[in-house]
Order: sequence, then C-alpha cells, then structure tokens
Amino acid sequence: MSTATATATAAGAGTSQPSAESIIRTAKDRLVPVYGRAEVAFVRGEGAVLWDANGRRVLDFFSSILCTNLGHAHPAVTEAVARQAATLVHVSNLHYSAPQARLAELLTSLSFGERVFLCNSGAEANEAALKAARRYGHAHGGRFEVLTTLGSFHGRTFATIAATGQEKVRRGFEPSLPGFRYVPFGDAAAMEAAIGPKTVAILVEPVQGEGGVNVPPAGYLAELRSICDRHDLLLMFDEVQTGCGRTGTLWAYEQMGVVPDVMTLAKSLGNGVPVGAMVCNARAASGLDLGAHGSTFGGNCLTNAAAVATLEVLSDGKTLPRAREAAARLRAGLEALREKHPEQIEQVRGLGLLLGVVLKDPERAKAVNAAALEHGLLINLTAERVLRIAPPLVVTDAQIDEGLTILGRVFAS
Ligand SMILES: Cc1ncc(COP(=O)(O)O)c(C=O)c1O
Repeated sequence: MSTATATATAAGAGTSQPSAESIIRTAKDRLVPVYGRAEVAFVRGEGAVLWDANGRRVLDFFSSILCTNLGHAHPAVTEAVARQAATLVHVSNLHYSAPQARLAELLTSLSFGERVFLCNSGAEANEAALKAARRYGHAHGGRFEVLTTLGSFHGRTFATIAATGQEKVRRGFEPSLPGFRYVPFGDAAAMEAAIGPKTVAILVEPVQGEGGVNVPPAGYLAELRSICDRHDLLLMFDEVQTGCGRTGTLWAYEQMGVVPDVMTLAKSLGNGVPVGAMVCNARAASGLDLGAHGSTFGGNCLTNAAAVATLEVLSDGKTLPRAREAAARLRAGLEALREKHPEQIEQVRGLGLLLGVVLKDPERAKAVNAAALEHGLLINLTAERVLRIAPPLVVTDAQIDEGLTILGRVFAS
C-alpha cells in the first residue's frame, strides 16, 4: 500500500481520505514533474466551491482549468454518469451505441455542424481537425499548410504543438511537424498576406485563452471567413476553451457573426469528464472516409452520456442567460477594482465568464494569484501577468461578491 493510501484522515464529505501532505508527497515523488502546482489537494466540489484535503473551503473561479462550466458535481451530469456506469461503460467503434448517437445529434442540432468526430481531449479534437484539413487539401490542389496565430494554444501532441504559436511548447521536441506558419492574432490583413500556394486552412481560437484572454478586434473573425471563402480555405475555430457557454453563448462564434467550417471542443463538454469533439460541415468532413481516423475511446458511452447531460443543461434556455448576468456582475466588479488600483491593474478584458485582469507587473501578478488562494479564492495566472478569472456559469451573486471581496483585500495588501 502506498504512503498516500495508508495515511487516512477525515476530510471533505466525511469519508476517509489521505492527508493533504501524503497526497502531495506521493504525487511529487512519483509523477513526471511537468506541471507547476500550488500546494493544495482537492477532494470534493459542489458548484463553485472546492474543499481541500484539510477540509478548507475554496471558491473556484477557475472551473478546474475551464472544464466544469456547470460547476462541480452538477446533479444532471452526476446522475447521467452514474446511470451509464451501471448500464454500459464502453462499446467499440465497430458497433453503435446510444450515448454516442445522441451526442452527435445534439452537437449538430446545436451548431452549424453536419458531421462529428468524437474523441477524448482538446488536442485530439484539433488533431482530427488538422487531419480533416490535410485530407481536404490533398484532394484540392495538393495543399497541406495550416496558418495559426502567435500566442495561440492548441494542445501538447506533436501536431498541436506545431500548430501552437508559442515557441516554448516546441523547445526540445524538434524537428517540428512541418506545414504550419504563425501570424499575429487579430490581424486579418497579415493572415491574407501569409497565404501561400500550399495553404489549406486557418486555425484560430475565437478568444485566445492560454495566450492571455486576448479578444480580437471586432470583425476579425468575419474577415477571416471571407478570406477563407476567397482562397478556398477551411476556417477552423478551436473552441476547446471558449465553447460550452464559457463566453455567454453556447459557442463563441455565435456572437461574432461568422460560421466556421470546423469547430473543436473538449474541456467543459463533459463538465469535467474527459470528452472531445471535432464538429464540421460536410465539405470539411469530405476527406475523412472509411479508415481515415479513429480513437478507441472516442465516443465512449460513459463520457458521451456526461456530454449529453451537459449539453442538455447548457441548452435549457436558463443557464446561458444566467451566465451572462453573472458575467456582467463580475466584470463590473473587476472594472471597479481596476479603477481603485490603476497602479497595479492595466486592463480588464475577456468575453462572458472568460475574463482576464492584466496586471502591470508579472511579479505582482504571481503574488496576487498566490495570495488569492491563501485567502480562499482559486484563480489562475497565464501569459505571465494575466489573471484568468473563469468561475462556473452557475456561480451565484453572493459567490461573485465574495470572490470580489477577496480580490479587493489582496489588491489592497
Ligand atoms: C484553446 C485550446 N485548445 C486546445 C487545448 C488542449 O486541450 P487538452 O489539454 O484537452 O488536450 C487547450 C487546453 O488548454 C486549449 O485551451
């Protein structure tokens, strides 16, 4: 028995849990150390609240890296997972299953999509999109190149680090997969100028998440749409982070007057259960014929049941309007903080409940992020000095006010 399982203390829901110390020590000793982690181990969650292994309550304004848009332990998702786990966990893709068919039906009826490839993560959804683009390009003039944007993030597999417009994710993994070039985000003219004879697609996040919550100028995505139409390119939106209601509409593209050819999803699609999807129109799907792609667990019954339940809640007509109200309240509170602390806060930006508070000084940003957690508020630091603030869509007004009070105390200290 490991040290962690041997050392039991009461925590969380009152069940026997390993102590925080033993969880952290065991993980540090045995896991590949690729993540920078705060010294906290969570054991339970409900809505916008997490409890750690010491029984401490923490307000979650990060939604577990934007994966739990409906909050922790949402009853509809919990019930769907429990029911499916007791019924049928997995069926191979050599046969059909009900949760997979229902998920494909929901994803297409709730979006522009005509076809869906189901997978397990954001990187895999983007891999599917990139393979669809290459198949399309090979059939239309022998093209293969995909243009992406500087500061983007598309995943950690070989193809998706090649697609990501940040040198640091590729360092030490060279040679990089060829066929990608990076263009400044928000500059449609630069994108058109970068198109070459081998270009087949543009892949872009409607709002850059990891890159610092960067919202493009109005009209940018619509301009990319017309560029793609003029040059017979596929327009591919990575909505892994912006999708599933995060920006106030089910998909971010709906607010931008533009329809892509491909959209990739993961993160909150299963409200924390790992599931991803590449959703596309018939044109983009045209190259993905029999045997072109696959994934053993793609379309898994258990994860797909979670995604079906998640999408049913997100499209119930109440969740998204409430999320927009919550976003307006939180944003107003953050703007008030900026007015109070102009020497620290440069800007508040974002869309819906994907918000970034840009600090002037990266060291101060690091300190604020750490101090917020000490005061019981979980947020995140990205792009060196951008505090990413993304509570679940079900966050209450009282929780928003509590989070703002904690941030106010931290900025004042
Ligand atoms: C926009 C975007 N695309 C893709 C990914 C990769 O998703 P995953 O970690 O599930 O592979 C992420 C993860 O942060 C992301 O933010």
